Amino acid sequence: MASTTLPSIAPSQLCSRRSGMLSPSSLCSRKEVKMGKQGKGMKVVCMAGSIPADRVPDMGKRQLMNLLLLGAVALPSTGMLIPYTYFFVPPGSGSASGGTVAKDALGNDILADQWLKTHGPGDRTLSQGLKGDPTYLVVEKDRTLATYGINAVCTHLGCVVPWNAAENKFICPCHGSQYNDQGRVVRGPAPLSLALAHCDVDSGKVVFVPWVETDFRTGDAPWWA
Ligand code: FES
Repeated sequence: MASTTLPSIAPSQLCSRRSGMLSPSSLCSRKEVKMGKQGKGMKVVCMAGSIPADRVPDMGKRQLMNLLLLGAVALPSTGMLIPYTYFFVPPGSGSASGGTVAKDALGNDILADQWLKTHGPGDRTLSQGLKGDPTYLVVEKDRTLATYGINAVCTHLGCVVPWNAAENKFICPCHGSQYNDQGRVVRGPAPLSLALAHCDVDSGKVVFVPWVETDFRTGDAPWWA
């Protein structure tokens, strides 16, 4: 007949097991198996290795340690996350009026005064406009910026259309479509005029704003809006 003898468990051991700090295997870290006189009986002695009660942290201390650990991880992570996020936000990408600041070939904000010092009457030079589209800034004959910009993406198959000053037209190199000096289509295969954007000056910077009104060149609703 088998008999099993377990040592009495101290209160500290019970607390440790209930709180999950110790696994059952750690409670019974050493076992001794003894055979009876005739080899029929078996005696199992479980000698538990325990942690003294005064060395087991109570719940309050554990929560405090968890909070300290969380703070130690969260603070540096947040500190790294903020500059990482700002890295992907281009400077000067917006304006107080809600438009998009035009950028030059180097990616710098275009200042109207500076631009007009280096671009004469009749000039049409590409800038970076709404959604990054190549957009012509137009200088009028009176040396002021036109109130519209011309999107340079050909309405046929999307080539960027260069300005031909000698012909006073935009002429697409891909399939020969032509647009007048305001971007109105005058020869196919392009089916539509070049898109427009409002061109404003806000705090000295050139700003593009979506054009949702009637196309002043054709009198039609804007196909791009
Ligand atoms: S892409 Fe401009 S004419 Fe075809």
